[in-house]
Amino acid sequence: MTDHQAANAAKTIAVLGTGKIGEALLSGMIRGGRRPADLLVTARRTERAEELRTRYGVESVTNAEAAKRADTLILTVKPQDMAKLLEELTPHLPTGASPLIISGAAGIPTSFFEERLAPNTPVVRVMTNTPALVDEAMSVISGGSHATPADLAHAEEIFGGVGKTLRVPESQQDAATALSGSGPAYFYFLVEAMTDAGILLGLPRAQAHDLIVQAAIGAAVMLRDSGEHPVKLREAVTSPAGTTINAIRELENHGVRAALISALEAARNRSRELASGTG
Ligand SMILES: NC(=O)c1ccc[n+]([C@@H]2O[C@H](COP(=O)([O-])OP(=O)(O)OC[C@H]3O[C@@H](n4cnc5c(N)ncnc54)[C@H](OP(=O)(O)O)[C@@H]3O)[C@@H](O)[C@H]2O)c1
Repeated sequence: MTDHQAANAAKTIAVLGTGKIGEALLSGMIRGGRRPADLLVTARRTERAEELRTRYGVESVTNAEAAKRADTLILTVKPQDMAKLLEELTPHLPTGASPLIISGAAGIPTSFFEERLAPNTPVVRVMTNTPALVDEAMSVISGGSHATPADLAHAEEIFGGVGKTLRVPESQQDAATALSGSGPAYFYFLVEAMTDAGILLGLPRAQAHDLIVQAAIGAAVMLRDSGEHPVKLREAVTSPAGTTINAIRELENHGVRAALISALEAARNRSRELASGTG
C-alpha cells in the first residue's frame, strides 16, 4: 500500500443516494478491503436504508449527518435530484477543510457543484456505465477546478473497484458519455437485431440469443486480451470468397459504419445540451 492509499484507507466515505450505481460502488469498496465501519450510506426510503444496513453492515444516516462526518461524499442520485440533495447537504458541511465531492451523475458539470458549494471545494466528476453492476464498468473521471491529483487518485481507487477507469479533461466527458456511458446500449441493440436474424434463418429465439451472446463475449474478450487491432481480428474471420465477407458487404451497403459514427455524434451532442441545461 502506498502512503497515499494508506491515507485514503483511513477516510470515512459516504455514498449519498445509494441506488443501483451507489450499491455497486459500496459493494466494490467492501470487496476491495474497506471496513464497513468506515462507510456511511444515505437513502430516501427507510426500507432501502435498512436493506443496505443488513446486507453490508454499514451505518445508514441522513444526508446532513453524512455531510458532517464523511471525508469523501459520493453523490449517486439521479441528475434531476442533485440540486435538492445539495440543498440538504450544504448547510452541514464542515467550514474548515471541505470534504471531497465525487459526483457519479451523468451530464452534470463540476461547475454546477462549485457554484453551490464553499469556495475551493474539490469536486470530481465520474461517468460510469451499467456494467458497474457486474464489475466491468468503464468509469471516466475528470477533476473540477480545485481537485488535486490525490483527489483524482482517490476517485480512481473507488471506481476501480467496479471496473476500469480513465482520466479525461472535462471537455471530453460528453464524448465519453456517447462512447462508454451509452455504449452498452448499442451492443444490446446489435444483439437484439442479430437474434432477429437468427430467427429469420430458422433458429429458435433462445438458441439464437445464446449463439449471439457467446459470440459477443468471445469477441469482447479477444478485443480486450489479444492486444490486436479490431481490423486484424476481423480479417482472421474473413476468408476469401467466404461467408463473412458477404455479410460485411451488406453491412457496408447499408451504411452501418456511417450510421454508428452519426449515432455517437448525436449522443455526444445530446450530452452537451443536457450538460449546458438547454435540453
Ligand atoms: N444506471 C445507469 O445506466 C447509469 C450509468 C452511468 C451513470 N449513472 C448515474 O448514476 C446515478 C445513479 O443512477 P442509478 O441508476 O443508480 O439510480 P437509482 O437506482 O435511482 O439510485 C438513486 C438513488 O438515490 C435515492 N435518492 C434520491 N434522492 C435522494 C436524496 N435526496 N437523499 C437520499 N437518497 C436519494 C433514490 O431513492 P428512491 O429509491 O426513493 O428513488 C435512489 O435509491 C445517476 O445520476 C446516473 O446519471 C447511471
